[in-house]
Amino acid sequence: MKYLVKKSILQVKPYVPGKPIEEVKREFGLKNVIKLASNENPYGPSPAVLQAIRQGAKHLNRYPDGDCFTLRQALSRDLKVNPQQLIFGNGSDEIIVLVVRAFIHPGDEVIIADPSFLVYNIASLIEGAKVKRVALKDFRYDLTQMKRQITAKTKIVFIGNPDNPAGTYIRQKEMEAFLKGLPSRVLVFVDEAYYEFVKANDYVNSLGLLKRYKNLIVTRTFSKLYGLAGLRIGYGIAHQPLIDILNRVREPFNVNTLAQMAALACLKNKAYYAKLAQKIEDQKKFLYKEFNRRGISFVESWTNFILVQTKNQAPKVAGQLCRQGVIVRDMSYWGLKKYIRVTVGTPQENLRLLNALEEIL
Ligand SMILES: Cc1ncc(COP(=O)(O)O)c(C=O)c1O
Repeated sequence: MKYLVKKSILQVKPYVPGKPIEEVKREFGLKNVIKLASNENPYGPSPAVLQAIRQGAKHLNRYPDGDCFTLRQALSRDLKVNPQQLIFGNGSDEIIVLVVRAFIHPGDEVIIADPSFLVYNIASLIEGAKVKRVALKDFRYDLTQMKRQITAKTKIVFIGNPDNPAGTYIRQKEMEAFLKGLPSRVLVFVDEAYYEFVKANDYVNSLGLLKRYKNLIVTRTFSKLYGLAGLRIGYGIAHQPLIDILNRVREPFNVNTLAQMAALACLKNKAYYAKLAQKIEDQKKFLYKEFNRRGISFVESWTNFILVQTKNQAPKVAGQLCRQGVIVRDMSYWGLKKYIRVTVGTPQENLRLLNALEEIL
């Protein structure tokens, strides 16, 4: 049977996520497996968030609020933006898909970094875009080169700040220089999935830039620091006319009830998450120290994950770690043949990773 699918999707390689814990337990007959592969928060939701989820569960016979009204009001107050400048998604991934769906005609150009978050590429290819990749320089964005690649056909430039897998960030001055003189028809998609982890004074103030640039959209997520990856909720901030366009291609009930209630509880629980961010930062510093002590090279990161250089081929190292019950991400899929990406875990998880790495490397 030959299916008459859209030609554009034949070039798409399906996204390969980090292996789930249960799968690794089954595959290797292990009892105790840890996952440091998907940049999740190892601590899980706060008690207040769990309470909100229990409360929300009572209303699951009803469709969710398609407008996310209560969450929208709370977040708009928090961010000091107009409620109509917000769009919520089934993860921030969905906002990427919505933007591409709304803007790309087959043959339009999209510019991304290389390596970069895979969803920019996959979503763009599905809509028939021509994806131009610009290599990172020392694991940092080369915005000058990305700007040079812009042509009359360019529709979107994707900027992960910080991006995954490199974990490095773009400075305010660099972003300002990039945006200056850019044709306003080119949409600049600034993905700040790791925003809450960035501790740098010169990090881009994207909400400030939104006041000046109507061609900008900024996305953030509740999946990382807020520990709601399993519920799927993220959001985008942009000028209202751009949000209005995205709402036309959004499914009516794209964000489920539990996700909305849990996200709202997160916003009321900021002090708890600030402490978690500090805990993760301290553990990241601990891993740096221990990597250095063992002569393991890594890329300094402004996120909750670290790109680690391995002496052997990454698939082999990731496979060996997996057999020991430590799931990390093999970066060869991103073209980084001798790198693995590890998420900063709890102190016990990080010790287990270090011990397993010591044995293997
Ligand atoms: C750079 C980047 N953007 C976006 C996402 C998607 O996050 P979510 O769809 O869970 O909000 C991720 C997840 O790993 C990411 O690394």
